This record gives sequence, C-alpha cells and structure tokens, in this order.
Amino acid sequence: MRNLILRMICRQLLLLSAFIYFPLALSLTANGAGPVGYSGLLINVGARESKNLSGEWRYIIDPYKTALLKSKSEPKAVFLDRVNVSPHKMMEYSFDNSPYMSVPGDWNGQVDEMALYEGLVWFRKEVQLSKVDDERYLLHIGAANYKSFVYVNGKKVGEHEGGFTPFAFDVTDNLKVGRNSVVIGVDSEHEDDSVPTPVTDWKNFGGITRDVHLVEVPNTYISTYFIQLESSDVIKANVSLSGDRINRREVTVRIPELGVMVSGNTDADGKITVEVKTPEDMKFWAPRSPILYEVIISTADETVSDRIGFRTIESVDGELLLNGEPIFLRGISIHEEALGATPNRAINKSSARALLSIAKKDLKANFVRLAHYPHSDITTRVADELGLLVWSEIPVYWDMDFGNKKTLALARKMQSDNIIRDKNRASIILWSVANETKRNKKGAALEERTSFLRTLITDIREVDNTRLITSALHKAKPKNKDGRRVYVIDDSLARYIDVVSVNTYQGWYSDMKLEDVAKIKWELPKDKPFLFSEFGAGALYGYRDDNLAKFSEDYQAEYYKANIEMCRNIDGLDGLSPWILKDFKSPRRMHGQFQQYWNRKGIISPEGNFKAAFGVLRGWYNELAGT
Ligand code: GCU
Repeated sequence: MRNLILRMICRQLLLLSAFIYFPLALSLTANGAGPVGYSGLLINVGARESKNLSGEWRYIIDPYKTALLKSKSEPKAVFLDRVNVSPHKMMEYSFDNSPYMSVPGDWNGQVDEMALYEGLVWFRKEVQLSKVDDERYLLHIGAANYKSFVYVNGKKVGEHEGGFTPFAFDVTDNLKVGRNSVVIGVDSEHEDDSVPTPVTDWKNFGGITRDVHLVEVPNTYISTYFIQLESSDVIKANVSLSGDRINRREVTVRIPELGVMVSGNTDADGKITVEVKTPEDMKFWAPRSPILYEVIISTADETVSDRIGFRTIESVDGELLLNGEPIFLRGISIHEEALGATPNRAINKSSARALLSIAKKDLKANFVRLAHYPHSDITTRVADELGLLVWSEIPVYWDMDFGNKKTLALARKMQSDNIIRDKNRASIILWSVANETKRNKKGAALEERTSFLRTLITDIREVDNTRLITSALHKAKPKNKDGRRVYVIDDSLARYIDVVSVNTYQGWYSDMKLEDVAKIKWELPKDKPFLFSEFGAGALYGYRDDNLAKFSEDYQAEYYKANIEMCRNIDGLDGLSPWILKDFKSPRRMHGQFQQYWNRKGIISPEGNFKAAFGVLRGWYNELAGT
C-alpha cells in the first residue's frame, strides 16, 4: 500500500512537473483551417443528461413536398402540428389522425408501401416537460437520411443535409412546460450535387435512422474533446467549451486508473490543449487487448466521462505499425444493415455487436471497413470494445459533382463532423476520403476530382495527425512488364494518401479464369502500405453447383481461394477487407433468381448463415492469426 501511495505521489509530482514543463502545452490550439464548428454541437450524448425521444412518432408521407410550399411567410410545415382544430375549419393535415412509425428506423422496412419510397416524410413527437430549468437544451439527431427540416412548437429551428452524421439545434428558447411538439421533415431524395449522388450500390434507406435526444446541459458546456496519444509517450487532450462564458474556464482531464490529472484554463475561443507524459503502466489498445480507460473531463458546471483506448498507428517505410509493431489487417467490409431478412438501417448495441462479433470471433478478423459512409457511433464504440481496427469513410462515391463548390463544402463538413464525432475511438485507424472516383475520367474532369479529394485530405491533416489517410482506388489496368502481365496503380491520388487501397474484381466482373486470378501480379507503391479494400463475388446462400456456375456458393468459395492465392504471392501486402460480410439491399441488383434487389457478395446470408466462402477466408485468417 505504501508503495502505491509513494507511486501516486511521485506520479502527481511527475504530472505537476509535466504541467509546469509544458507551459507551451497550455498554449491554446484553435482548430486549423477547414470547416469550423460541429453540426452535432456536442459529442458523447450518452454521457449527458438527456431525454431519449426514440420510440413511436406520428408520420405523414408527403410525396409532392406539399408542406414545404411557401404560403404567406411560413412554409405549410408549421401547420402540420395544429391540434384540436374545430371540425368546421378546413384542415388537410393532422398528425393526431396519422399512423405511428418507430424512430430510429427507416420507413422502407417498416411500411410495406414505402419499401422503395424516396421522398419527404413528416414525423412528430409530443414531448411533455414538467419543468424547464435555467439550463441549455439541445435537440440532437444521430442521423436522418438525407435532408431534414426541424420545427419545435411550430417554429423552425434548422435544416441539415447529409444522411449519416449527427446534427443538433439549441432549442432552449423554443421549449415550454407541458406539451411540446417536435416535427422533423426528412427527404431521402438525393440530387446530382448531393453527397452521395442518387447513383449508389446500396439501398437509400429513408428516415430518422439514429436516436433523437433532448439533451440538457449547463449554459456553458463541454462540446467536443480529443484525447489521444500525440506520440507513444505523450497523451494530448484538446477540449472545447460552448455556451455563454467560455473564456478562461478551468477544465480538468482525469484518467483515474493511471493517476493522471491535469488542468488548465480555456482561451477566448473556449479551447484548451494540455499534454501529459504517458504513464509507464498504461496499456496500449490493440485488437488482442482492447484496453479502454475511463477518461473524465470536468468544469465547474459539468462532468463528462468517456471510455478511451490509447494506441499509435504509423506507416514506416511502407509498413503499417500498430503501437510500433507490424500489423496485417485481416479485414472484411461491412454496410450498416442489421442481420435479418428485412434489414434495418437503425443499428443498436446488440445488432452492432452481433455483426462485429461474427467478424471478430467467427471470421478471426482484426479489421473492418465500415463502408461507404459514417456508421453509427454505437458501432465504432463496439469496435473499440471488441478490438477491431476500423476504416471510416464518407460517401464520396463514384461519379460526384466534383466541380461543384456546394458539393465540396458539404463533403468537407460531413468529413469534419465524422472526425469530430469519432476521433476518440481508438479502433479507427484510417479515414478514407472516397471510393472508386477516378472511373474513366481524363483531363479537366480528373483534375477536378483530384483537387476535390486533396482538399479533403488537407482538412484531415489539419485536425488529426494520429491516423492515416486512404481511399479505395479503382483497380489498375494490367500492363506488360518484362513479358508479364502486371497490375499497376494508375490513379494519381495514390501520391497524396498514406495507405494505397484498391478494389479489384477480376474473376467476377470479367471472364478471367480463376486459375489466372491466382497468378495476377501487382506492382505496389514502394513507400506506402497497400491494402485490397475490395474483392468479392456474388453467391445465393444455398445455391450449390459443382460446375461452379456464377452465383453459386461453390464459385464464390473458389473465387476466394484464387484471390487468397493471389494475396499470398504479393510481397508487401498489408491487409484486405473483402467485399463483403453480409448480403445487403441494393436496388441495382435485380436478377430475379439470384439477387432480388440484394447485392449477394456477402460471405454470410442476410440472416447470418455462413456461405462456403466464409470457411475459406476464416481458414486463411486463422493461419495468419496463428490460431
Ligand atoms: C464497387 C463498390 C461497392 C459495390 C461493389 C459491387 O467496388 O465499391 O459499393 O457494392 O463494387 O460491385 O458489389
């Protein structure tokens, strides 16, 4: 016990000295360039005082966007919530006489006639408040796809565009004791200048797809924070306050299990950066040991606790190093769909754990590519707990309007919000800026695309130097090198990212024989890690064919054997995330016998049955894991 007390005293002295020796650490680091602010207003909603508004909401389908038509000064939307209207009054909208839908959830899977509906739907929730304290109230929506129009008690509080990142509005002045009505219009339609465009290979689920909370915070509250290893021996904490009095407010950051406690005062922008030496007994987070520490951030008015892992990820001489050790990414790609015949876009803790546990425990993966958009923070927190490394991406996908300033601004904000929301998640090691965007672009169109993506890359470097940047590039064209067919990465974007990743489908979207797929040679970048971000083949679970017809499980299994053989022969391959863990909904996949509006490249069926290819990939991952 005496030793422990001595150690604690020594540590406090050490920290105090760190505090003293790092006067610069108290120098205030405002955010760099790029998008400012955070649409969600605050992170870690689950640690705050809040009323969860999830549950049954009334809804009105509005296919002609009637309620958005301008009428007099206010759009009709505010009229949606008139209640107890006299029967002698003309009334064409009445939530009180409308059906219910579950929030979070998508309407496609909940209402049969809305299975393919893409358009505007109005939702209303009545919220009874027994008191309204002299505090601040934030209406926080985890995600709604794609555009949202938000009203509280008939007054518009804001709009948001983007289907997969949080947004919130300060509704302190809109609330009253008693009945309050929250009305949210959600329009799932995308335009050519959207992020993404209407053309994607996944179902455009519409709705309020993540939790809604009415969050109560002090007038000056802890909005965002970033507590990570600046290097293996320095923990850095950035904390930002929002609200009335943010200047020169004392902030304390504690990690009780490590005896870390450090304080400082915010600057005029409400920001503070402090650093402490990494305690010797701190255990690094890694897939085999996903150690999370309780981190407590406090001010005079508020205390917020989080569970954070500490690790480093680096690219050194073309090799991926996790905590200084080489790591091979045994991955799999995942769309955000729960297991089941009618997949729900709304992921909860148990459905996220069910999916990720198949990857971690059954497949022996240590890595998941959360494609093609920011998944729920429920999922990234489960990845932290299970010990799965994560590739996180925004839906800059295929042919975007790369020359459009609005599209660029939207992509920048979406990426910034995703990073601010999740940058305390140790599991996330890669931020990806795009998927297959070169396609057949040439000249000015290609330059526009590359300039668009370089802006996104610069933004990441401004705000997060603890992770690596990647992008899923198109497979290259084969070239003849010394009489051999070699695939060369011919996308100029490769020079601006840290980890070069390629999608390749030889043997599925081509007639190449599988024995030739196994022999494909690649010319890899010398100085950067290299991943296969996708390869895959479709298979209808239960369809077997010894003659290896495409869409049979047997063909998919042989396809995986050939691609694994190709991987084994690549010196310098650092990992892979084959496409994809589970069959997923896609209106582009219409084959009446094999697809039925499902993309069948899953190695498990929608209900979670393992296809033959699952065993092939697991066999290799077991071998790689040494189990
Ligand atoms: C592309 C794309 C995926 C798509 C896959 C497929 O590479 O990145 O979103 O689903 O190929 O064709 O199944």
